[in-house]
Amino acid sequence: MSSSYDVIVLGAGGAGLMCAGMAGQRGKRVLLVDHAKKAGEKIRISGGGRCNFTNLHAAPDRFLSQDPHFCRNALAAYSQLDFIALVDRYGIAYHEKTLGQLFCDDSSQLIIDMLLSECREGEVDLRLKTDIVGVERAASGFLVETSQGVFSAPALVAATGGKSIPKMGATGIGYDIARQFDLDIVPTRPGLVPFTFDPALKERYAPLSGVSVEATVATGDISFREALLFTHRGLSGPAILQASSYWREGEPVLINLAPDCTIYDLLTEARQERPRSECSTILAEILPKRLVSDLTAHLHGKSRMADQSNKSLKALSDAIQSWQVVPVGTEGYRTAEVTVGGVSTGALYPKTLEARSVPGLYFIGEVVDVTGWLGGYNFQWAWSSGAAAARALAG
Ligand code: FDA
Repeated sequence: MSSSYDVIVLGAGGAGLMCAGMAGQRGKRVLLVDHAKKAGEKIRISGGGRCNFTNLHAAPDRFLSQDPHFCRNALAAYSQLDFIALVDRYGIAYHEKTLGQLFCDDSSQLIIDMLLSECREGEVDLRLKTDIVGVERAASGFLVETSQGVFSAPALVAATGGKSIPKMGATGIGYDIARQFDLDIVPTRPGLVPFTFDPALKERYAPLSGVSVEATVATGDISFREALLFTHRGLSGPAILQASSYWREGEPVLINLAPDCTIYDLLTEARQERPRSECSTILAEILPKRLVSDLTAHLHGKSRMADQSNKSLKALSDAIQSWQVVPVGTEGYRTAEVTVGGVSTGALYPKTLEARSVPGLYFIGEVVDVTGWLGGYNFQWAWSSGAAAARALAG
């Protein structure tokens, strides 16, 4: 015997909550299943507890995917403005931090409470602490075997997220379901994740751990300008996290630690005008002192500007503005904010997120091969893809 619903949504994260609430409010009997104790755990910890819930500049060019146009439809049909209107309706106060990133003034919990309230309004049957044992195709649609019994519905939505942060309950079940139904998976890798150094580089840069500087970080043909942070394992900070989603193992990363000026010109002018000044004094006017000490440590007794040859100034400016480093890897899924890759967009209809070859089966949110930049884009994808599936399910 199985309990039947119109729609079963697997995963009560951002995408699943959005989809379940909307489909429920449109008259569908929705079951929402999650193995976690609470819904929306990633929302809770996001944005340092204040949830960067969307970005004013959300647009397809802020997303990675094998098909860069795939996300266009869903983002347009339910945009950042639609989500902001929902947040406004609940009277949740927010502010723009930087680069269009919208954060709650208070707690992320308000966003979770809002989505749960939407689900209650849609009479969604939310079952937490429920393990999914397996999914099967049946005459009536889909059977989902769980630790709380077997459920059936003509439509099944996989909103089980990516592999990032297994400690928080992330599993690869969404990919397993896709494979079970012969859908292609774009190979997955950790994204928005710090870089790690090999032992020699780690030792070399360990004294700089904690130093932060505005930088441009380029990999392949993309470049990001934001903060960079030296860590005891390698490099982090928003500019590094952004680049990490595009980086491939073995590739170099090109870093400019002083993107606002031309260091060589600045140093040759200073040599002319302030010959008695220490090189470190000049550099400390634009870079953190600890970084400057590291960069000038090799000058020993010849540290005044007048002592510097063109060659030494060029070497110094290259070290600052054309620093090429090859990370040994990343910190992996343990700390990655997202999973790049996932259920192939080619297998899904862009307007509805329904599998082309399996009517009634939908994939939404991070499990799909659509990955946003840092800055609220990933949640916007969760909301937009969740809404697209809900509209398709409920007409
Ligand atoms: P999500 O992972 O949120 O939800 C999947 C759900 O499925 C979970 O509730 C999980 O328990 C459940 N599940 C998984 N396997 C299951 C199984 N086998 N059985 C039952 N249930 C299962 N993005 C952003 O835009 N702004 C931000 O500020 C941040 N900040 C941030 C911080 C940190 C630390 C992380 C790790 C990530 C972010 N992100 C972010 C990314 C963002 O959190 C992420 O892209 C979305 O939460 C994805 O939403 P989904 O609903 O697709 O997956």
